[in-house]
Amino acid sequence: MAEVLARLEQAKKVYQTGDTRIVALDHTSMEVRSHELVLLEGPSGSGKTTLLSLLGCVIYPTEGKVMVRSTYTTGLTDRQLSRLRLQHIGFVFQNFNLIAPFTALDNVAFPLRLMGKSGRQARREALQQLEKLGMADRRFNRPRELSGGQKQRVAIARALVTNPGILLCDEPTASLDHGSLEKVMEELKMLSQEGKAVVVVTHDPRLESYADRVVSMEDGRVVNT
Ligand SMILES: Nc1ncnc2c1ncn2[C@@H]1O[C@H](COP(=O)(O)OP(=O)(O)O)[C@@H](O)[C@H]1O
Ligand SMILES: [Mg+2]
Repeated sequence: MAEVLARLEQAKKVYQTGDTRIVALDHTSMEVRSHELVLLEGPSGSGKTTLLSLLGCVIYPTEGKVMVRSTYTTGLTDRQLSRLRLQHIGFVFQNFNLIAPFTALDNVAFPLRLMGKSGRQARREALQQLEKLGMADRRFNRPRELSGGQKQRVAIARALVTNPGILLCDEPTASLDHGSLEKVMEELKMLSQEGKAVVVVTHDPRLESYADRVVSMEDGRVVNT
């Protein structure tokens, strides 16, 4: 049974840099549901990362509302917003955002530490998650000692280790060869079938075969749903 896990209601995001004002996302409404894999497509600069960051509670909207698991983010403090993100959202950033001085294991354990788990428990669970992604043997390597594909698997492990209902991935397949791409997409598909809402940003039309729904963006707007 599909359930709405996150929703944008007429959300708008404006960036002001000096005297330039950029509408990165114009009034946009969309929702993501459990058990679905949504593909978010569109040219570079069309607002895909902005939309994903709003859904993922990484940024606040300039106007409109964002709802995650029946909580509106408007009016939440930074601390409350982080809490909501930690509980419900897994985010795989376009550039992975791994913490450079940390090992793969400690990167994956980090959200669990933020949740208040002991170092020992956090590392135990992080190792299990790395094992699932076939990365246990690289657990003591730091990000700069890993390939693009390996960094990506660590980033996915870190997003999944808290078992979030919503998984948001910003161009996760960009640095992958075709074989690894299929493997990653199969895994993401499986997670959606198990009940998560999975959103994948991509440029790659080959990924459409994995999608339950394709959302296209142009110039800060969703042009279909
Ligand atoms: N932090 C920021 N400050 C200023 N402009 C930004 C910022 N982030 C994104 N933008 C601008 O907003 C628009 C949409 O960006 P983005 O959401 O990153 O698009 P996409 O992910 O589709 O390439 C672009 O014009 C981009 O330059
Ligand atoms: Mg982007």
